[in-house]
Amino acid sequence: MEFYLDTANVEEIKRINRLGLVDGVTTNPSIIAKEGRDFEETIKEICSIVDGPVSAEVIGLTVEEMVEEARNIATWAPNVVVKIPMTEAGLEAVNTLSKEGIKTNVTLIFSVAQGLMAAKAGATYISPFVGRIDDIGEDGIELIQNLKTTLQNYGYEAKIITASIRTIGHLEKAALAGADIATIPGSLLPKLWKHPLTDNGITQFLADWEKVPKKVETL
Ligand code: E4P
Repeated sequence: MEFYLDTANVEEIKRINRLGLVDGVTTNPSIIAKEGRDFEETIKEICSIVDGPVSAEVIGLTVEEMVEEARNIATWAPNVVVKIPMTEAGLEAVNTLSKEGIKTNVTLIFSVAQGLMAAKAGATYISPFVGRIDDIGEDGIELIQNLKTTLQNYGYEAKIITASIRTIGHLEKAALAGADIATIPGSLLPKLWKHPLTDNGITQFLADWEKVPKKVETL
């Protein structure tokens, strides 16, 4: 499973990248706004830190606006991926961009039908939002399972990025469902590698180590 970081915080990306855990990065307008920095400058910096795909989202809502923005964003770095919202105009934009070799990530996917449409239009990635689906009382992970089956049934190449991940359970169940990628907020990551029994174990080992007889130094 590939891990993307769902953040535009450069220090966070550098820190996690040192652990060898960053295969890519996803951003959205809210994530960019949180950093209070220039959009283009931020994306270019992230693209220079991370080897893998870095998603940057368009703001326009018409086909023309999305395609124009996407063509511009695609010049920022070789590893940039253009995020396009799941709308009729978005599908047309994705279809145009895929023919130009511009990679797209269709975002705000909440149903199998939407994922199927995006894959068929030529999306490189599709981003179902599991957390936001759970928020409305439905099952986000079930969508991941169903999308995986659907894309496999027809051999679509679009990769599933499990987005809107809020819990360890989301990540583990997305992995079990065979999602290609999980995009993880920086705040959740430490919870993925930490476990209270690991911490207790270390404390116990160090306490026991104190009981090991030390060799007497001779002059
Ligand atoms: C990433 O591609 C999505 O924009 C992000 O995961 C959304 O997360 P949220 O639902 O927690 O805002």
